Amino acid sequence: MNADELREMYLAFFADKGHKIISGSSLIPENDPTVLFTTAGMHPLAPYLLGEPHPAGKRLCNCQKCIRTGDIESVGDASHLTFFEMLGNWSLGDYFKQEAIEWSYEFLTSSQWLGLDPAALSVSVFEGNETAPRDEESIQAWLKLGIPKERIFALPETDNWWGLPGESGPCGPDTEMFIDTGRPACGAGCRPGCSCGKFFEVWNDVFMQYEKMPGGAVRPLKQHNVDTGMGVERTVAMLQGKASVFDTEVFHPLIGALEEAASRRMSESDDIAKAFRVICDHLRSAVFILGDDRGVLPGNLGQGYVLRRLIRRAVRYAKKIGLAVGFTRVISEAVVGGYSGFYPELGRSRDRIVGELVGEEERFEGTLEKGLVELNRLLGRMREHGEKTVSGRMAFKLYDTYGFPVEFTEEICAEDGMTVDHEGYEKAFEGHKALSKKGAGKAFKGGLADRSDATVALHTATHLLHRSLQIVLGEHVQQKGSNITPERLRFDFLHPSKLTDTEKTEVERLVNDAIQRDLPIQREAMTLEEARKRGATALFEGKYGEEVSVYSVGDFSKEACGGPHVERTGLLGTFRITKETASSAGVRRIKAVLE
Ligand code: SER
Repeated sequence: MNADELREMYLAFFADKGHKIISGSSLIPENDPTVLFTTAGMHPLAPYLLGEPHPAGKRLCNCQKCIRTGDIESVGDASHLTFFEMLGNWSLGDYFKQEAIEWSYEFLTSSQWLGLDPAALSVSVFEGNETAPRDEESIQAWLKLGIPKERIFALPETDNWWGLPGESGPCGPDTEMFIDTGRPACGAGCRPGCSCGKFFEVWNDVFMQYEKMPGGAVRPLKQHNVDTGMGVERTVAMLQGKASVFDTEVFHPLIGALEEAASRRMSESDDIAKAFRVICDHLRSAVFILGDDRGVLPGNLGQGYVLRRLIRRAVRYAKKIGLAVGFTRVISEAVVGGYSGFYPELGRSRDRIVGELVGEEERFEGTLEKGLVELNRLLGRMREHGEKTVSGRMAFKLYDTYGFPVEFTEEICAEDGMTVDHEGYEKAFEGHKALSKKGAGKAFKGGLADRSDATVALHTATHLLHRSLQIVLGEHVQQKGSNITPERLRFDFLHPSKLTDTEKTEVERLVNDAIQRDLPIQREAMTLEEARKRGATALFEGKYGEEVSVYSVGDFSKEACGGPHVERTGLLGTFRITKETASSAGVRRIKAVLE
């Protein structure tokens, strides 16, 4: 069975059990500043698990794209992935443990579905602690289905309790299902949950009947929910009897493309195999991040930084197997080709994705070699003097001058038995930020120097333009600069390609529509954190707790800014774009007037 078939079968099974198939969410979580990426299918469903009614009902299922980069350094082995697809079914206060477990068992073992041997199945359940009791209900449900008690393992919180990594949210005990792969046990204590590879974890049913409150206290939820998760790539590998996800058809086209581009075989050596895996995994993630509807571009902060790190790490491994510049094109095209059937957003943005990847590859290519020469020279000197720790200042220089993410430097150092003074690096980084932010801070606070009516009107129009660009082109649009005279506005923003005529017309239409609705403009003062929490666009990083003004234009836009603005949009006249050009790499410039 391949990945497409598994997805289809899973969703058909749960649709048959009265579940609505909902679409997956963006990889970039909405309204959740605690995590950078969607890490599980339940992530976008958290409000509904806590009691909000979901428009599609109480039984849901889907396939969710997920990114987890916590283990990025482990990628390269047989199973770690930074991007994966997760199949899930949910009960929002509807069925509970009994049905969830029965259905999991049926899907895994019935010959109509996966048809796995029930004798190979073992399960784990929560053993209980001071917060919640031992999960007798799940134990009984498994016994009733014929799983003998020797294959039911009661394990502690670290194994069998699940919730999102953030401060608070829905959580609860889980029961995990394992397939015995038939490989030998690693020792007497080998049991489900052991990482030696004998027991393969195929599915996780979480019973979200608790809520973790800010501060850590856990209280029972009124609504009893089910949240399950099955990783597509890993399950397909298990079903195909493969020891590694990279041996399945999911990665075949990528590996094939790489073998051709590098003129070598993945199987040549362990080191070569590792490089192949890192490149395939990281570029697959990069394509999905770039191609997301709320996609981000490589950058120095947040998601953009993770994306940059993934691409740059792939470029370094590409060097190890002698790939020529431009290899990201071949791989990204293979990823888009393989996935755009199920994820049409990739097909829609194919050119942009490929262009961005190749652009980032080329930007790094130029400095990678020089940076490596400098770092190797340094490591050589350190070896001579018996030193073990690279200074924070040096790590920062490698970042600032050669574009080496610090984790990247740390990894190269670790290969040589060296470490990096991380704290020193943070200090050097902060010092640099404080210096370069002086200018930005001024622009943030000061507002407009010229306060003539015409300038103020164009300033409000700039906010409408910013929001409209995000709506039309995507949330990656971010202000890079603004200059307003009484005659015209000039707005620079992050976007990789020239706007089409249709895009320009649509942006004008949205701005003029907001003008015609005569929306009121309101100012509120709040901390920068609060502004971000309320979804305001806030361009510059301020100090923690710093108060900012947030201007809302009706329900249309919300932006932290120094003002001033007009009182209502009806005062603006008609908005027209007069020019759209490139400003610098990846940045577009629009000039516009109010007539
Ligand atoms: N949220 C749980 C997990 O990620 C089950 O979906 O494993």
